[in-house]
Amino acid sequence: MPPEASSSPLPHPVNCPVGVYDSGYGGLTVLRQLRKTLPELDYLYLGDSGRAPYGGRDVDTVLDFSEQCVERLFAEGCRVIVVACHTVSCVALRHLQHRYGSDERRILGVTIPAAEAAVGRTRGHIGFVGTARTVASHTFRTEAHKLKPEVKITEVAAPLLAPIVEEGWEDSEIARLAVQRYVAKFSGIDTLVLGCTHYPLLEKAFDELTPPDVAVLNPAPEVAERFRVWREQHPGFAPQGSGSLRVLSSGDAANFARHGARFLGEALPMVEHIAEQNGRLALCPEGSEPIGQVVR
Ligand code: DGL
Repeated sequence: MPPEASSSPLPHPVNCPVGVYDSGYGGLTVLRQLRKTLPELDYLYLGDSGRAPYGGRDVDTVLDFSEQCVERLFAEGCRVIVVACHTVSCVALRHLQHRYGSDERRILGVTIPAAEAAVGRTRGHIGFVGTARTVASHTFRTEAHKLKPEVKITEVAAPLLAPIVEEGWEDSEIARLAVQRYVAKFSGIDTLVLGCTHYPLLEKAFDELTPPDVAVLNPAPEVAERFRVWREQHPGFAPQGSGSLRVLSSGDAANFARHGARFLGEALPMVEHIAEQNGRLALCPEGSEPIGQVVR
C-alpha cells in the first residue's frame, strides 16, 4: 500500500464493503486477518477461481483478468479494494491504481506491506518465495530495495506449491517434499517471506524445514495492520458496517465454499457464482491500453 496524504471522508457512505480480490481461495488468508483486525467492517470477497491459478500466466492475461475483477467489485459498490493476490499486486497494481483509482475509489496491494515487514525484521538477507509470475516481476525485490538498498534478496519461484494447497494436500508428505526442495534453493537467508496467498497453509512445513535461525514471515497480518492505519486516515472508503461477508467466485460455488473454509479458518457464507458475459466478468470500455506501470 503506497503512503498517501489523508483525505476527508466521502459523503454519505452507505453499504460499501471492502473489496478483497484474489485469483482464487488464497486471498481468504488475507481476508481472515482483515476480519480479525477490523471485524466491524463489511467485506466482499472475489475469488477468480474459475480462471486460477494466475501464477503461471502471461502478464497480459493477468492484466485482463485483474481489470475485470476490480471492475466487478467497484460495480458491486466497493470504494476500496485490497488486491490480496501477490501475483496481481506484483504485476498489475500500479496499472490498476492509475486506471481505476480516484477520489472515490482506491486500490491497495500486498507487496509494499510485505517488503516493509521483511526489511524491518531482516539482519541482511531476505528470501522470498512466490509464484513464477510474481518472482519474474522482481517487484518484491524492487520495493524492498527502495526501503533498504543494501539488503540482499533471493527470490525463488515455487510453482508446485499453490496447486498442492488447492488440492488440500498441505499436510501431506508431498507438500513437505516440495517445500524442502524449494527451501534448499536458499542459502544464508535470515527471513523467508511467504509471497503467495496459499503459502500460509504451508507455514508449519516452512517453519520445520528452514534452519531455526530463519524467521518465516506470512505478510497477511502486516497487510491487515497497514489497512487499519490507512483506513483511519480514509474512513469514507470503508465505513463502519455490521461485519457482513459476501463471497463471489467465478468457479464452482459449492467447491469454493467447501475448500475456502480451510483458508478463511471458518465456514464461508453461501458463495455466489459470477459468470463471464462476452468473456468478461464486468463490462468495461474496449480497446484501451494499460496506462500505469506494468511489470513484465
Ligand atoms: N493468489 C496467488 C498469489 O498470491 C497464488 C495462486 C495463483 O497462482 O493464482 O500469487
